[in-house]
Amino acid sequence: MENCIDFLELDIVKLSSGFDLSLFDCGDGDLNSFLKDDALVYQGGSLSVTYLCLYKNQIAGYFSLSSDAIRLELEEKEVMLEPKRRLGEYPAVKIGRLAVHKNFRNRGIGTFLIKAAIGKIAGSIIKEIGCRFVTVDAYEQAIEFYEKLGFIQNLGKKRKDGLSMRYDLIDYIQLSR
Ligand SMILES: CC(C)(COP(=O)(O)OP(=O)(O)OC[C@H]1O[C@@H](n2cnc3c(N)ncnc32)[C@H](O)[C@@H]1OP(=O)(O)O)[C@@H](O)C(=O)NCCC(=O)NCCS
Repeated sequence: MENCIDFLELDIVKLSSGFDLSLFDCGDGDLNSFLKDDALVYQGGSLSVTYLCLYKNQIAGYFSLSSDAIRLELEEKEVMLEPKRRLGEYPAVKIGRLAVHKNFRNRGIGTFLIKAAIGKIAGSIIKEIGCRFVTVDAYEQAIEFYEKLGFIQNLGKKRKDGLSMRYDLIDYIQLSR
């Protein structure tokens, strides 16, 4: 496996039948089996849409997106500029699953996936429907990875299966108006 990734060779494509998913291994059984067994079924039922990251015809990583809504604590709402009347729930898109093949780790592909996910949401969804945040329930070992990319913890939401985090799309929203 070459060490240096040529980012021009990375492609993001929507999952469809016909991809050989059998060799994908991110080191996490749940994330492997979601991609191999469940992702297409979820897509068929519009529960999530999965995007593969291809590098020279190999699956280097993937992420799945679904619609979401989050509750914020008063102190989190107060620092938001708008609206004056605070909402009970704020619209969001959730990165439900995200993983990099273990042979491709620590070479910027996880970062590339997050930027691709945000780019997709900022490039299309926020222009068509209200959506303020990107959310994720981060595995303990991945919290620092998300923090480096600008995600912060959601104060109110305690989960057993990960730390609820959000990324504010406000800069993209202001640019798109
Ligand atoms: C978490 C994961 C997606 C990161 O992907 P990656 O391609 O290795 O990440 P990158 O190379 O883009 O790393 C970006 C930065 O995050 C850091 N980072 C990556 N993984 C990290 C981790 N587990 N803990 C702390 N920091 C991490 C890197 O050191 C790098 O820091 P730098 O910019 O200061 O050099 C990958 O390790 C993975 O698939 N893990 C197993 C599945 C998983 O945990 N998914 C997340 C589910 S919520």
